[in-house]
Amino acid sequence: MSKVATLEFDGKKYEFPITVGSEDEIGIDIKKLRAEAGLITLDPGFKNTGSCESAITFLDGEKGILRYRGYAIEDLAEKADFLEVVYLLIFGELPNKQQLDKFTADIKEESHVDEEMKKILDGFPKSAHPMGVLSSLTSALIAFNPSSVDVSSEEDMYNAIVKIIGKFPVLAAWTMRKKNSLPLNHGDDTLGYVENLHKMMFEKPGKSYKADKAVIDALDKLLILHADHEQNCSTSTVRMVGSSHAGLFASISAGISALWGPLHGGANQAVIEMLEGIKKDGGDTHKFMQKAKDKDDPFRLMGFGHRVYKNFDPRAKIIKKSADEVLGQLGVEDPVLDIAKGLEKEALEDDYFVKRKLYPNVDFYSGIIYRALGIPVEMFTVMFALGRLPGWIAQWREMRLRKEPIGRPRQIYTGENHRDFKPLGSR
Ligand code: SDX
Repeated sequence: MSKVATLEFDGKKYEFPITVGSEDEIGIDIKKLRAEAGLITLDPGFKNTGSCESAITFLDGEKGILRYRGYAIEDLAEKADFLEVVYLLIFGELPNKQQLDKFTADIKEESHVDEEMKKILDGFPKSAHPMGVLSSLTSALIAFNPSSVDVSSEEDMYNAIVKIIGKFPVLAAWTMRKKNSLPLNHGDDTLGYVENLHKMMFEKPGKSYKADKAVIDALDKLLILHADHEQNCSTSTVRMVGSSHAGLFASISAGISALWGPLHGGANQAVIEMLEGIKKDGGDTHKFMQKAKDKDDPFRLMGFGHRVYKNFDPRAKIIKKSADEVLGQLGVEDPVLDIAKGLEKEALEDDYFVKRKLYPNVDFYSGIIYRALGIPVEMFTVMFALGRLPGWIAQWREMRLRKEPIGRPRQIYTGENHRDFKPLGSR
């Protein structure tokens, strides 16, 4: 394979080095393109553009492969627990017992959220969307943890990291309790990370809380499946904001806002709303398949399609199987699960979807499990954010440790050429 790519333009030839990744992905290194050829590239949505080199997550969209630090998502979902995966993504290795115990203890030490933060939450109407509240609370957390901003040393980074991992579940639980008019609580250090999250979300005043192992296991698996996904929209946002050295919490807050969008993490909420709409309309999946294919109809099959996966999203396969298991264990009958399976079957046999390689993605079945676990639909994307937190942290840390430059893309200007100012009277 050649070591350079040659560009010919305007009678001149330019050579640019080739970068080859550990999974044989090939990139043209165009760092000197503008200086040498006076050219830039144009790639809206960065569909063909690598923003960085990264050692965290590998995915192969054609083959439907997803690995965190080399470990297959199928193995991690089955054999690991969420905090082990958090450690793996951030520090690069599965922790031994001593490392996991220290990491867990450090997180518990930082799982308290300042009482004053409750006043900020008080300012929101109950109707506020939880993702907007969560993003605001995460940013507000900076004011109570100023040492989390200027983190150039690995030790300072570690301290900021355990703070946000410890406090984030409290903010997420408070966001849900606010909507349910429940008093704001604090964590229980005697519980594991995921059980503690579940307890904070669901415990009721005066009632004893007893976790169902099937529920905690399902939640743990869903958080693992959402933990990282290389340079997706929200992670690229975290890297971009982090590249200005705005601090970890500010970068995470921006990532939450990016994830909120219905084309990204907000799709899990949109999927359930879509399935409910189809059920209410009589359950005619074929009718909605036609709408999804009609260019004049704004309806899209939410939870279908992916920028990178042109095969089954491996997470969707695991979640679909888990949905059957969890609903069976909980004795929950959810008619929208059958509607979802009907849509999937039709799409996999429909030329429009097959030609465009549109398959179910991570968001297509996840909402069905969240609903069976009693999580309100407006909290579904918050659950996605709780899972994605370690991925955002890992990617931010990698970018900072590698001292990557501030993100600042170029553009092709298409506006007015120079023109003289016109006084008001002559316009
Ligand atoms: C996530 O990037 C990540 O890794 C994201 C994520 C992660 O873990 O971080 O995996 C999480 O965001 C999953 C995606 C969740 N979003 C949705 O489910 C929303 C519905 N899906 C789409 O809007 C769409 O598929 C995207 C946004 C996911 C991907 O869009 P692309 O890559 O820009 O593809 P496109 O819009 O250019 O579509 C290509 C063609 C178009 O048709 P043509 O113009 O070629 O005729 O496919 C069509 C699209 O109209 N198409 C769909 C469709 N998705 C794409 N048609 C109907 N229904 C859909 N869902």
